[in-house]
Amino acid sequence: MPKTYQPSEKIPSSEITPEKHYYTRRQFIKLAAAAAATAALAACGVRPPESDPLPSSSQAPSASPPPAGDLSQELTSYEDVTTFNNFYEFGLDKGDPAKNAGQLKTSPWTVEVYGLVNRPRTFAFEDLLSSYTQEERIYRMRCVEGWSMVIPWQGFTLSQLLKAVEPTAEAKYVRFETLYRPEEMPGLNYNGFPWPYQEGLRLDEAMHNLTILSTGLYGKTLLPQNGAPLRLVVPWKYGFKSIKSIVKIELVAEQPATLWNTTAPREYGFYSNVNPDVPHPRWSQASERRIGEGGRRPTLLFNGYEKEVAGLYAGMDLRSNY
Ligand code: MTE
Repeated sequence: MPKTYQPSEKIPSSEITPEKHYYTRRQFIKLAAAAAATAALAACGVRPPESDPLPSSSQAPSASPPPAGDLSQELTSYEDVTTFNNFYEFGLDKGDPAKNAGQLKTSPWTVEVYGLVNRPRTFAFEDLLSSYTQEERIYRMRCVEGWSMVIPWQGFTLSQLLKAVEPTAEAKYVRFETLYRPEEMPGLNYNGFPWPYQEGLRLDEAMHNLTILSTGLYGKTLLPQNGAPLRLVVPWKYGFKSIKSIVKIELVAEQPATLWNTTAPREYGFYSNVNPDVPHPRWSQASERRIGEGGRRPTLLFNGYEKEVAGLYAGMDLRSNY
């Protein structure tokens, strides 16, 4: 069993910081400044590729595509990350969340963590900020549609929170739920989805060091359209696994239902690990467009995080467990 940490206890940085993914504050600011100057736009979602109009900046060919296996981390611009979003509770078009999410009341905010745990607890958002080691992590994000971007997040590892509530031996999965507040979220009036938005991870995926709960990006507090005040980020999975504006986290024994898997099980599996060799039933996943680049680049297994996460799936058939 891993050591159980109390909320007030600091986890040694050796335990939470895979060096490859960690940037010192100085490096981070430098990278962020460089990226702010880069005009780029990204999208991610669940519609067929290229079905959303892109601003002209992203269609102009710039640098040629990088060599295969390139893991470069040139940041997508702040403007693009905050104006081209998927948050269906605020509408189906990419610009809707930025337009409609301003009315979302994100304070006070609590997150209930319960289910198969010894210490169920409801956390005030502020306590999450003060109790757990906050970090900056720059991650690639690959959306199921074939776009990708690079985002500098702030947040903390989900494992810190889970250790604090002490999952029991029966807990095998984690279920996440987004706020359901139709007065402030006009998209909830659309009946095509089984609201509230739900997602899930296997417990070992949730405990992985790369899995974070984000509270901000580019050094600023998270905006509502990006999932304020708290959203999941799982960089080796398609973007729709990274559920926004979380109010409930439940430890469960069975694989939980998720919004997309319930809506279209053949198209959106529970695992949804980025995999160039497993096509979406309606399009290939072999390549992607990194917004701001000309052409397309090859998609990498587990979005380039293979070394870190492949062990989670040892012996598993990634085709049938898509
Ligand atoms: N979470 C909720 N609650 N509702 C959503 O519609 N969209 C998902 C994911 N989380 C979504 C969500 C999808 S499809 C993607 S690609 C990412 O959020 C987009 O995150 P971003 O808008 O911050 O780039």
